Amino acid sequence: MELHVRKVSKVFGTKAAVDNVSFSLREGGFVGVIGRSGAGKSTLLRMLNRLTDASSGQILVDGTDILALSGRAKRDWQSRCAMVFQQFNLVPRLDVTANVLHGLLGRRATLPTLLNLWSGADIDRALSILERLGIAHEATKRAEDLSGGQQQRVAIARALMQDPALILADEPIASLDPMNAQIVMDTLKRIQTEDGRMVIANLHTLDTARRYCDRVIGMRDGRVVFDGTPEQLTLGVARDIYGADATFSESATSTDIGALSTDRDYAAAMLDD
Ligand SMILES: Nc1ncnc2c1ncn2[C@@H]1O[C@H](COP(=O)(O)OP(=O)(O)OP(=O)(O)O)[C@@H](O)[C@H]1O
Ligand SMILES: [Mg+2]
Repeated sequence: MELHVRKVSKVFGTKAAVDNVSFSLREGGFVGVIGRSGAGKSTLLRMLNRLTDASSGQILVDGTDILALSGRAKRDWQSRCAMVFQQFNLVPRLDVTANVLHGLLGRRATLPTLLNLWSGADIDRALSILERLGIAHEATKRAEDLSGGQQQRVAIARALMQDPALILADEPIASLDPMNAQIVMDTLKRIQTEDGRMVIANLHTLDTARRYCDRVIGMRDGRVVFDGTPEQLTLGVARDIYGADATFSESATSTDIGALSTDRDYAAAMLDD
């Protein structure tokens, strides 16, 4: 899949939440979007899967402007790009398998879905996805009875049920403890490398972006201010993305910046000041 974001903007009132953003992704890969709160990360992801309409610009996917799609074609695109959210967005009282089957909602008639008339083949597929993600033993539990990390894996299983070319994850680990955060990130990485699906994830910590991404896009005030490899994401660059003011060291990113202290980039960046 080739994806070209061309001069895309989203204006709320007089404020451009996303301001003339362009970038291209030519092959599968793991792309991280970073930036401080309000930088426009979520708005960008929401435009990519048409949860929010753009104010201007184009998003070309294999040559088709997905911003111009409507009706059936728009829903088809939405089923090709699955979303994973910070708060999992599962149906708490339904069991895990039913939640995974909900990944098929965009592709099936409404009535059988409402009646939970899933085919045996669909159920088998849901179970094999759960098996792959190491949570098949939770299949009959209610979603609400699982840990956060398990719930996020169910959400990823639901995404996989769509067989998406692209997975959009909006802060997928922001509500998880470090151990579960690692399991969830490892899961997303596996899906990307083993299946060749593209993953675009908004991430709020630098160390996660550096560890998992092939490519990092840094946003500030709605604009792309960095687009490069994790190796190019030095502390100096990070300061530019997050804003090198007094609040920088207090942000949630600070502990992760601290983790860079063993990196020679850190020393180099400190000398820059
Ligand atoms: N529906 C909306 N109506 C008005 N303004 C909005 C709306 N959604 C987002 N914004 C504004 O757009 C800007 C970008 O918001 P967005 O949620 O995309 O940022 P973000 O980078 O995801 O931030 P965070 O890290 O806090 O999730 C912010 O100034 C926000 O207040
Ligand atoms: Mg956000």
